[in-house]
Amino acid sequence: MSNDTDTPELEARLTDQDEFTPPESFVEQANVSDPGIYDEFDATWPECWTDAADLLDWETPYDQVLDDSNPPFYEWFPGGGLNASANCLDRHLDERGDEAAIEWVGEPADEANRTYTYAQLHREVNEFAAGLREMGVGEDDIVTLYMPMVPELPIAMLACARLGAPHSVVFAGFSADALSTRMNAADSEYLVTCDGYYRRGDPLDHYAKTLDGLDGVSHAVSDVVVVDRLGANGDGFDHDRPAAHHDYDAVVAAHDGASVSPVERDATDMLFLMYTSGTTGQPKGVTHSTGGYLSWAAWTSQAVLDIKPSDTYFCSADIGWITGHSYIVYGPLALGTTTMLYEGAPDHPDKDRLWELVESYEATQLYTAPTAIRSFMKWGVEYPDAHDLSSLRLLGTVGEPINPRAWTWYYTHIGDESCPIVDTWWQTETGGMMVTGLPGVSTMKPGSAGRPLPGVDARVIDTDGDDVAGGRAGHLTIQKPWPGMLQTLYENDERFIDEYWRVYSDTDSGDSADWVYFPEDGAKVDDDGYITVLGRVDDVVNVSGHRLGTMEIESAIVDVPGVAEAAVVGGDHDLKGEAVYAYVLTTDDHDASDALRERIVASVEDAIGPIARPEAVVFAPELPKTRSGKIMRRLLEDIANDADLGDTSTLRNPDVVETIQDQLAGD
Ligand code: WTA
Repeated sequence: MSNDTDTPELEARLTDQDEFTPPESFVEQANVSDPGIYDEFDATWPECWTDAADLLDWETPYDQVLDDSNPPFYEWFPGGGLNASANCLDRHLDERGDEAAIEWVGEPADEANRTYTYAQLHREVNEFAAGLREMGVGEDDIVTLYMPMVPELPIAMLACARLGAPHSVVFAGFSADALSTRMNAADSEYLVTCDGYYRRGDPLDHYAKTLDGLDGVSHAVSDVVVVDRLGANGDGFDHDRPAAHHDYDAVVAAHDGASVSPVERDATDMLFLMYTSGTTGQPKGVTHSTGGYLSWAAWTSQAVLDIKPSDTYFCSADIGWITGHSYIVYGPLALGTTTMLYEGAPDHPDKDRLWELVESYEATQLYTAPTAIRSFMKWGVEYPDAHDLSSLRLLGTVGEPINPRAWTWYYTHIGDESCPIVDTWWQTETGGMMVTGLPGVSTMKPGSAGRPLPGVDARVIDTDGDDVAGGRAGHLTIQKPWPGMLQTLYENDERFIDEYWRVYSDTDSGDSADWVYFPEDGAKVDDDGYITVLGRVDDVVNVSGHRLGTMEIESAIVDVPGVAEAAVVGGDHDLKGEAVYAYVLTTDDHDASDALRERIVASVEDAIGPIARPEAVVFAPELPKTRSGKIMRRLLEDIANDADLGDTSTLRNPDVVETIQDQLAGD
């Protein structure tokens, strides 16, 4: 099926009319449909954010909406007390106890679908929280969770939240090394993991990876809980289990019917931390607050995803990333809706898997990534066409820019031209959505995320700090604090200031007006104030919507004997958005060889995980450098993209460019 011709009518329209108004039927029922909200929030900021806080139940009312007296250490809702688990569970029990909280769809390999009503979820969270408490987990102990998309992951998150113990979820696809780095950085003494899981029908031995990771943890780990996901299918994986490794089912059974009262947390207490990639090799431990973060997750879920308790909402992200935290677990459950949790791959057993799920669960919203949409396009319209998708009311995208052609395809073939699309720009650090349309208010422009949300002061500026307009590129910045913002980097306030604030703030000033958050994205803005995000301006590549640090990948490559130097850049990729290109210089005693290339790829997979696997490893006689000896990464990106290289005469070694191009062409 050719994708060039399957939406000709709409594409033609797209050229002369690149704006879409939200369907009337949607606007009529939207949670937010008054365009006046933008002016109203501007006029009342920061008091406007009581709207977000009001979506939660507070044990102790807050004294103030925002304390900005010590920028950039902003405090949202100081004085307030609440518990996130109580907000996501207990308060829904009276009205929605028997309604589904989680619809879990397991890998088709064992057809293990499970529905958890709010009452059932509440019960198991309490039982597991009692188990964790018995192991010694208390307020402020960091619990690492290393699990795929099984219901025990959100259960463990909520059990931690109940106890006031921040969780640190490590994406299950990350390597053993990545697990130990994160447990070490957070000094985490507790781990919840699983025996294994299925990938396209085959059982994977996750516990082996866990044990390897634990070997690399430099402090004592007191307890490990292992979820039995594979049952007898995991019998082939034979490991000795230390006594401190408890079986999840046994822990829960031992606390059958237990009740753990939710620990009241200050609004500014940490709910969780999440490691993400940045410019240096060491991942950043982003910390999120209980009150500000949860209000933000709930408010954006309501205003942007239009979630109502009666919905069956489907986000296809993994909980191991921030999208899953905010928009599978915390936001949807805070609003008391039904959230779907899908363990498997989108093309197994067949390429219509997601559409089959939308149809059979009558999903009302679908929130996914552009990279997935590009795969769906490639697979062809016959897959969605074979299913009734009319239950869908809204579509969303996140993680990377969406190209107008993918947008159009999504709009036509999945939304049947009757669902608004929200293209949501945000980051791990922002906690939730920041720049995106309000689906019941805004017109949509394919490829542009839209205006900043009401009350969000996002601006595109040049290096002098002046606003840029007229579609010129600049840096995206956020000029006022917002409730969902990160609080700091775990135990590293200095790095927090350096990474996000130093570039555009007067860091000596105690006046919050002098502080500007820099997300390290490039962007442009049109005359209507619509922002198009162009991508990262730091050393981060975005592969299939996943953030990877080039320095982390480079350090895994230079660890391989025979490698003298490495430079990693992101090159354009049709499906993944960006792919990892590694340029490698060998040591004198090693030749470029396929065997060395394989060792390089294996080392990257060991250090980070298969998602960071290089698309190409290019052996170069030298790396292109400026006269001052800096590697010209932009040039390496252009080479990867086969783009016009412009003037290369300022290089110390201009001849090297052609040699590298030849290498890549022969790759
Ligand atoms: C990119 C994911 C364009 C951006 C929620 C950002 C986007 C990084 C969009 C954060 C979007 C996310 N359009 N780019 N709608 N959404 N990005 O922390 O570069 O995994 O800085 O959070 O993804 O990635 P992170």
